[in-house]
Amino acid sequence: MGRSGTNSGPAEDLLIELDRDAGVPLHRQIEASIRTSIRAGRLRTGASLPPTRTLAAGLGVSRGVVVEAYQQLVAEGYLASRSGGYTQVAASMPQVAAGAGPAAPIPRPAARRVDFGYGRTDVSHFPRAAWLRSIRTVLTTTPNDRFAYLDGRGVPELHEALCDYLNRVRGTSSAPGNVVICSGYGQGISLLIQVLVQHGARRIALEDPSSNDDARVLAAAAGLDVVGIPVGPDGVQVDALHRADADAVVLTPSHQWPTGGVLSAGARAEVIRWAKDRGAIVVEDDYDAEYRYDRSPVGAMQGLAPDQIVYCGTASKTLAPGLRLGWMVVPPRLVADVTAAKVLADRGSPVIDQLAFADFLTRGEFDRHLRRMRPVYRRRRDALLRALRTHLPDLEPAGVAAGQHVVAWLPPGLDEAAVVAAAARRGLGIHGVGPYRIAGTGPGGLIFGYAILGESAIAEGVALLAAAIREVRGS
Ligand SMILES: Cc1ncc(COP(=O)(O)O)c(C=O)c1O
Repeated sequence: MGRSGTNSGPAEDLLIELDRDAGVPLHRQIEASIRTSIRAGRLRTGASLPPTRTLAAGLGVSRGVVVEAYQQLVAEGYLASRSGGYTQVAASMPQVAAGAGPAAPIPRPAARRVDFGYGRTDVSHFPRAAWLRSIRTVLTTTPNDRFAYLDGRGVPELHEALCDYLNRVRGTSSAPGNVVICSGYGQGISLLIQVLVQHGARRIALEDPSSNDDARVLAAAAGLDVVGIPVGPDGVQVDALHRADADAVVLTPSHQWPTGGVLSAGARAEVIRWAKDRGAIVVEDDYDAEYRYDRSPVGAMQGLAPDQIVYCGTASKTLAPGLRLGWMVVPPRLVADVTAAKVLADRGSPVIDQLAFADFLTRGEFDRHLRRMRPVYRRRRDALLRALRTHLPDLEPAGVAAGQHVVAWLPPGLDEAAVVAAAARRGLGIHGVGPYRIAGTGPGGLIFGYAILGESAIAEGVALLAAAIREVRGS
């Protein structure tokens, strides 16, 4: 079915196929087609139909034929005439899902009272007014030819604005020619893995634990061996990297995900030495460095070895994951191949969003937004630590100085999976560290995403968790 329109106005198009040799009057064929579409749910309740004149012109029939069809369907109760001369699918028509029996009710997840699920940024603080100004500027000043296909690497304005920002704030060593814009880190790591495979990589090292829905899955799907490098309180253990025989490693050196450690200066130097000796690539996932609370800034590793390290950044933590805006600073020898992979993936990221983000960065709005958001997240982090101290003093929070989540290690003997399950029964959503482990062993821990929770919800969540832990201890 073509566009069926919405309540806001009539649709222009409706896919109706007429068979002029069928011996069935044309108005009956139109009726039958619309009736079937309504019954199948392809035309939804309230959808506006095209004006009779428009549909008649589109079908090459006289207007009277369409009028007769609409009138018959109004009489049968499928359609309703609306003031203004429009015709809509009637509200009372029973509909079934396309190609199926009666529509099944959509299952809803069990209601949660509090959810510490990780990966959510507080998008209610999205800087709409400032973003709108940037979009307006772009739409009023950008020449038409900029909206055609462009270089898949992204728009030059954003390359420059990002380099200025990253070199100033993250200590990267980036030049506009090395930046590739992508749809978030998720796409960036996918493109990098493709390029690593093209360059003959066979094995990739990942932090253990680390996220389980991007590099790990993508690398395995691309045929790479995945080897986990254990993570200690200060990030990845570099001696294990030496034994890994890997062609690349993915690290979160400024705030290890999920355990929160910061890779020390010595360990960074050693990783870089390892990469240089082996001709290996380090992927630096700098996913949440903008949020730091009570520690001095930790610069990006990329600035120390721009020929060995691909730096990946994202707007998902700072602005909104739904923007799907990410960026990579790529060693010069890989830029062409990463760009080619990007072009093959989607022919480049949306131009208007890129230009808007460039304008937003250049006008200092990004800095202003971060300055506004840091105290918000800090207050939530403080509320979490306070509640943990009060209700669960034997849990050991880690990695608390930055980001939008905290890991708290469980005391020995307290089973992580049992705690997560008991919490879920009480309406508390929380993840354990276990599912993110590659080797599968290690102390139990819980990941508290606090970014979108108000301070009272955080306190309630920790109280629910304390009750869940009492239950597990008592059983
Ligand atoms: C470790 C890590 N890296 C990167 C990201 C951001 O991914 P994306 O930019 O695809 O939204 C996340 C999001 O939760 C993450 O947990």
